[in-house]
Amino acid sequence: MLPNIGDYLVTDMFNEFVLIVRGQDGVIRAFSNFCRHRGSSLLTGRGNISMIRCPVHSWCYSLDGKLTRVPRPEGICHFDFDQYGLKPVRIERWDGLAQDTGTHAPSLFRLLRALQTTELIAQQDDGRFVPGHLNANSRDAARAGVESYRAWVDLLYTLRTGKSAFERIYGKRFYEYIQEDTARIERWDQAMAAVARDWIPAVLEVYDFTHHRVVADIGGGQGLFLAELLKLYPTMHGILFDQPHVIKGVRAKFQQAGLANRCIVVGGSFFDRVPTGADIYMICNTLADWNDRLGLDLLKACRRSIEADGTLLVVDRLLPPDDHPEYAELTFFDLFFLVLEEGRIRTQDEYAQLFKRAQFRLSRVLSTSSQFTVIQGEPI
Ligand SMILES: C[S@@+](CC[C@H](N)C(=O)[O-])C[C@H]1O[C@@H](n2cnc3c(N)ncnc32)[C@H](O)[C@@H]1O
Ligand code: FES
Repeated sequence: MLPNIGDYLVTDMFNEFVLIVRGQDGVIRAFSNFCRHRGSSLLTGRGNISMIRCPVHSWCYSLDGKLTRVPRPEGICHFDFDQYGLKPVRIERWDGLAQDTGTHAPSLFRLLRALQTTELIAQQDDGRFVPGHLNANSRDAARAGVESYRAWVDLLYTLRTGKSAFERIYGKRFYEYIQEDTARIERWDQAMAAVARDWIPAVLEVYDFTHHRVVADIGGGQGLFLAELLKLYPTMHGILFDQPHVIKGVRAKFQQAGLANRCIVVGGSFFDRVPTGADIYMICNTLADWNDRLGLDLLKACRRSIEADGTLLVVDRLLPPDDHPEYAELTFFDLFFLVLEEGRIRTQDEYAQLFKRAQFRLSRVLSTSSQFTVIQGEPI
């Protein structure tokens, strides 16, 4: 919306006519659509202008709302132009979001305003909408790029079909889309690293790895967890498994950290086969990405490779009972997984069911100080 300098739109917002215009500097601003002389309406509809001229007595304003010309001001003593600029309306930030998501800005504003009442988002004094206290997860999602938000636009498609809105919009699965472009990969890695900074210390705090020899991190991304683990347990070895394009730079990182002799890096798809030789298999911040069919494929691949006395640790968000303080936030984040990849945030019972179908028994659940839970399974 308003792609060019001078493009404007007049819209009725909260019973007030608001003029939204893109200025010479490319910034979109909003003003009350009334002249500061005698309050006449300035513009109607939409179009393109180089300045704003009041049709009644020709007071003129620049596109950033400053009063620039008053016919015959010499009759007025000490006329202060600065005092008579158009009255600004705070919209810049949600307008940017509207552009990013391809939505109608004034309507998006009304949605955001309504969502504010759920505490999902909050509006700051400067007019910016930011994730509310119920929505720490969305900050992480936002770091992954605006594409992940755009999937919400086709929520209705997901509701009708149960399928990924992201795939319908972009014509490919989320991870396929990411891997096409190095900037996307980097942004995604950074987003995952930001989330991992939260859960890694929390998991290391509650789970004692002393009795394990070799840890396989399946879908281990950039190896952040393994690096921390191997530093903490100096005799332990690790296997990092992820998609071939993801692991490219990881070997060098382990080398730099002096861990290369204790860690091997393997590429492949975890839906087909994962490496053998570990006595504990970890799936961290990954299972919720997938629907039950693919989640089951992933667990079954682990089951085929794990030793009979091996351990499975899923580290992920777990949907708590509905009286839990984080329930509301997680139910919304669950929808985010749904529109993105048909994934889901599972309850403990749902994990137990899925484990069972992959021939694991859910043996232990450990809460952590982060939003992630450790869900332990044993082969049956
Ligand atoms: C949400 S990220 C989590 C990464 C890491 N475990 C962490 O917590 O930082 C999910 C990971 O699964 C990997 N992944 C997705 N599809 C995969 C596949 N078919 N085979 C192997 N890894 C895959 C992605 O490349 C990504 O690194
Ligand atoms: S009302 Fe606009 S110039 Fe007089």
